[in-house]
Amino acid sequence: MSEFLSDKRVLITGGVGFIGSNLAERLVLQGAKVTLLDSMLPEYGAVLGNIEAFRNKVDVNFSDLRDAHSLKHLVQEHDYIFCLAGQVSHIDSMTDPLTDLAINCASQLNLLEACRHNNPNARLIFTSTRQLYGKPQYLPVDEKHPKVPVDINGINKLAAESYYYLYAQVHGLKTISLRLTNTYGPRMDLRSGRKGFLNTFLARVLRGEKIQLFGDGEQKRDLNYVDDVVDALLSAAQGEDLKGQAYNLAHPTPYSLKEIVEHLQQCADFEVEYIPFPEEKKAIDIGDYYGDAGLFQQRCGWQPKVDLEAGLNKTIDFFRAHTDLY
Ligand SMILES: NC(=O)c1ccc[n+]([C@@H]2O[C@H](COP(=O)([O-])OP(=O)(O)OC[C@H]3O[C@@H](n4cnc5c(N)ncnc54)[C@H](O)[C@@H]3O)[C@@H](O)[C@H]2O)c1
Repeated sequence: MSEFLSDKRVLITGGVGFIGSNLAERLVLQGAKVTLLDSMLPEYGAVLGNIEAFRNKVDVNFSDLRDAHSLKHLVQEHDYIFCLAGQVSHIDSMTDPLTDLAINCASQLNLLEACRHNNPNARLIFTSTRQLYGKPQYLPVDEKHPKVPVDINGINKLAAESYYYLYAQVHGLKTISLRLTNTYGPRMDLRSGRKGFLNTFLARVLRGEKIQLFGDGEQKRDLNYVDDVVDALLSAAQGEDLKGQAYNLAHPTPYSLKEIVEHLQQCADFEVEYIPFPEEKKAIDIGDYYGDAGLFQQRCGWQPKVDLEAGLNKTIDFFRAHTDLY
C-alpha cells in the first residue's frame, strides 16, 4: 500500500480502542499527522496501553463524540476522519438502548454536522457492522441482502450508515462506510465478557480456562485479522469516488466456532465444554453468517491476506508478550 497519507492530517474517533489504535500505529509509520479522539469510557475498548508504543507521535484529545461543541473545533483542518468511536456490545445495546442510540446515532450526526459546517472537504470513513443484516436469508451475504437487524446496535448502526449516505448525496460530503465482520488481533478488548465470542474465547485461553461452546458449535462465522481491516480502511480512504456507499468487509473462508476452537487448541492447552445457548444470547443470535466482499474488492482491490491460524498465533503471541499492559 502506498504511503498516500504521509503528511496528511488525520483524525481517528475511537482512536484509543482496538481497531483505532492499530490504524493509528500504521498511520504514524506512514508519516501522517494523527489526532486521536476518545472518551475513554471504562466499559469500552480504550486502554492507554494500546497507544503506548507511539504515544509521543500522536495528539490525543480526551473528549466525547456526544459533545457537539468541541467537535466543531476538532474536525477543522483534518484531511481524513476515520469514524470508529462506538458502543460495540450487542448485549449492552439491548440492556441500555438509549446509550447506544446516543453514541452510535446522535454522535455520528454531531460529527457529520460539524463537518458540513466546518470542514466539508474532509473524507469520512465510517465503520459499520455486518450485524445490520440480521439473520442471513442466504449465504454469503452481499450488500443487496435485506437489512433486518436483530438488536438495537444493528438498528443504530444501520441508521448511522444511512446518515453518512445522506450527507454524501445531499450535502456532497465525501463519505464511505465499511460493514465489518468479526475483527480480531492485538489490542482487541479481552476485558469485557460482553463483546464477541472470540474476545471471550481468547480471554479464557490466555488464562488457561475452559471454553464453553453454545449448542453444537457448528455456527459459521467469517473473521478478519486487524491488519487486513486497517488495509481496508486505508483503501477506502484512498478511493476516488466515495458517494456514501457501504461495502462488506468479509473474509472468503468461514469457519465453525468448533473449528476456531480447534485452531486455538494448536496454540494453547484448554478444555472445551458444550452447553445449551443462554437465553439472552439466543434471542439475538443470527445463526450462520459469512459475507461477500466482492464489491469492495472490485472497487478498491482489497482482499484479506492473513489466514485464521496465522492471525490467532499473532494475537496470542501479542497478549503473552504484553501481560504488563493488559
Ligand atoms: N471489532 C469488531 O469485531 C467490529 C465488528 C463490526 C464493527 N465494528 C465497529 O468498529 C468500530 C471500532 O470497534 P473496536 O472493536 O475498535 O471497538 P473498541 O471498543 O475497542 O473501540 C471503540 C472506541 O470508541 C470509543 N468511544 C466510545 N464511545 C465514545 C464517545 N461517545 N466519544 C468518544 N469515543 C468513544 C471507546 O472509548 C473506544 O476506544 C466500532 O464503531 C464498531 O462498531 C467492530
